[in-house]
Amino acid sequence: MAALKAFGRRLTWAGGIGFLGFLLAQDPSSSLKPAPAIAPAASTGTGLLLEPPLDLSAYTREKFIEMSSTIGTNRIAKKWTKPVVALPPHPRTGVSGLTEDEVKSYMMEARGRFDRGEAVPMSDVGLISTQEDVIRQPMLNHISAFSNSVARVYLLVQKTASDQGWSYFSIVQDLTVTPARDYYAELKSTGPKFEGKSCYKCHSSGPLAIHPAREDLVIDAALAAELSRHIADQPRSEFVFPPHDPPAEYGEPMTLKFCAKCHSEDGDRDALHRVHSHPIRILVDFGYMPPNRRLKPEEVAELKAWLEQTPKP
Ligand code: HEC
Ligand code: HEC
Repeated sequence: MAALKAFGRRLTWAGGIGFLGFLLAQDPSSSLKPAPAIAPAASTGTGLLLEPPLDLSAYTREKFIEMSSTIGTNRIAKKWTKPVVALPPHPRTGVSGLTEDEVKSYMMEARGRFDRGEAVPMSDVGLISTQEDVIRQPMLNHISAFSNSVARVYLLVQKTASDQGWSYFSIVQDLTVTPARDYYAELKSTGPKFEGKSCYKCHSSGPLAIHPAREDLVIDAALAAELSRHIADQPRSEFVFPPHDPPAEYGEPMTLKFCAKCHSEDGDRDALHRVHSHPIRILVDFGYMPPNRRLKPEEVAELKAWLEQTPKP
C-alpha cells in the first residue's frame, strides 16, 4: 500500500486512485477568529543559509508600494470581507477527478478575475525567493485565492524588482479525489502551461504558506495571515507531474524524526527530499520550521549533514 501510495503521489496524471470525491467545508469565513499574525522574518543564525540574510534596509516601503502598484492600482489593496473569493459551483455534478481542461479553465478564471480587479490579492516581498542564493533581490508577489466545493485555486502574479513585466502562475487543487491533486502552471499568453520539476523544488506539498521578507513589505498583513491560514489548512495532496515534465530521481525521503513526523508519507505534509533544500534551509533558519519550537544545536547539525550528504548513486 505504501508503494502504491508513493506511486499515486508521484506519477498519476489523469485517473489514478479515484476514491470517492469528498467535499470539504469551503467557507473560510466560517472560522470565527481572525488568523494569527505571520511571525516577522528574523534569521536565527543556524548556519544553514547558503548566503547571509539579505540586507533589504535600502528598500523602503514606499519603493515596495510603488513597484507593486505597477500591476495596476485597481487590482491590488482591495477592501475585503472574505479572504478567499467564492467561485460558482462546478458545472458538472458528481465529479471524481477534474479534467485537464477544467483545471486550465479554473486557472484562466482566476487570472481573468484578477485582471478585472475582482480578486482579493495580498502583496508582499516573499522571503524564500528573495533570500534565494541566485535571486538576492526583492521578489514581488501578488497572491489571491479562490474556491468552490471542487477546487481551491491560487494565483501568483510575480516579478523581481529588476524585471519589467509581471508573470502569472497558478496552482489548482482538485478536491474531488483523495488525496487532493495539485496542478501547477505558468499562465502564458497562449494559456496555462503545466509544469513539474521547476515548481516541485519549492512546492513539496502544495501551496506554500506566506512569509514576507520584512514586516512592512506586505500590503494587508491581516489578509496575508488569512490566506496563509487557508493554505496551512489545506487537505493532504499530491503533486501532479505532467507527462512532458516527469519527476526526477529524487532519492530517499528525509527521515530525520524532528521533521519527518510531519513531513512523510503518512504525515500532515508530503515528504521532503534534498531537492527541497532551499525552502528547508530558509524555513528552518528563520525559525518557521519546525512550528512552535527551535531545533537544538545537535539537530541543526544532523539536518546540515543530511543536506550536505551526496546521495548514493
Ligand atoms: C524558489 C522557490 C519557488 C519555486 C521554484 C516556485 N515557487 Fe511558487 N511560491 C514560492 C513561495 C515562497 C511562495 C509564497 C510567497 C510569499 O510568501 O509571498 C509561492 C507561492 C506560489 C503561489 C501562490 C499560492 C501559494 O503557494 O502561496 C502560486 C500559485 C505558485 N507559487 C505557483 C508556482 C508555480 C506554478 C511554480 C512553478 C512554475 C512555482 N510556484 C515555483 C516559492 C517557489
Ligand atoms: C509539527 C509538524 C511539523 C514539523 C515537526 C515540521 N514541519 Fe515543516 N511544515 C509543517 C506544516 C503544517 C507546514 C505547512 C504550513 C506552514 O508552512 O506553516 C510545513 C511546511 C514546511 C515546508 C514548506 C513545504 C510544505 O510542506 O508546505 C518546509 C520546507 C518544511 N516545512 C520543512 C521542515 C523541516 C526541515 C522540518 C524539520 C526541521 C520541519 N518542517 C518540521 C509541519 C511541520
